[in-house]
Amino acid sequence: TLNNSTNIFWQECPVGKVERQKLLNQKGCVVWITGLSGSGKSTLACSLSRELHSKGKLSYILDGDNLRHGLNKDLGFKAEDRAENIRRVGEVAKLFSDAGLICIASLISPYRKDRDACRAMLPDASFIEVFMNMPLELCESRDAKGLYKLARAGKIKGFTGIDDPYERPLNCEIEIEQKDGVCPKPAALAGQVVSYLEEKGFLQ
Ligand code: PPS
Repeated sequence: TLNNSTNIFWQECPVGKVERQKLLNQKGCVVWITGLSGSGKSTLACSLSRELHSKGKLSYILDGDNLRHGLNKDLGFKAEDRAENIRRVGEVAKLFSDAGLICIASLISPYRKDRDACRAMLPDASFIEVFMNMPLELCESRDAKGLYKLARAGKIKGFTGIDDPYERPLNCEIEIEQKDGVCPKPAALAGQVVSYLEEKGFLQ
């Protein structure tokens, strides 16, 4: 990666991560939700955040679509822009997790190498990849924003799943699928992630 910063130093603060964890009664981590547009990433993120909140656990959502209104407004959807988008959100997620929050990142993040780079940035086991494994036909039939229709009509170029790739995770911690052709309810999915976080000791 390009690094234009020279003569820089790392400043340590005496209030450390472990102290923050004690204060909050939780361990920071990143729940990284990946999948096609319309696969239910944001719905799961919201439901999970609500569930954690009701348990007295502090979380914060980093939503790809939302961050593109500010932090990432200079980026488009070419592969290198998506890579930079994921890198920045990974760095922010790392800070939030270091602050002690359960950081929920919800981005298409279509390239495996970009997701794996975020995983590599975080301390062991604190990057929890959740794959919304929903068929393209289902996502397209929902088309809440009308973007698939525009992509099919050639009015949006490079739309993930239509004329741009999505690389499925090979090593995700949690995979969400339809069961007997039915999508599990968001609350049930959130419960599944909460159980995972409890089991791994993030909620203490
Ligand atoms: S990425 O691939 O991770 O950088 O994308 P992300 O930051 O999550 O942004 C995805 C949202 O941008 C809208 N959108 C597109 N998605 C995919 N491909 C193209 N070309 C595109 N253009 C705009 C779309 O609303 C995505 O929102 P979600 O929430 O995924 O439906």
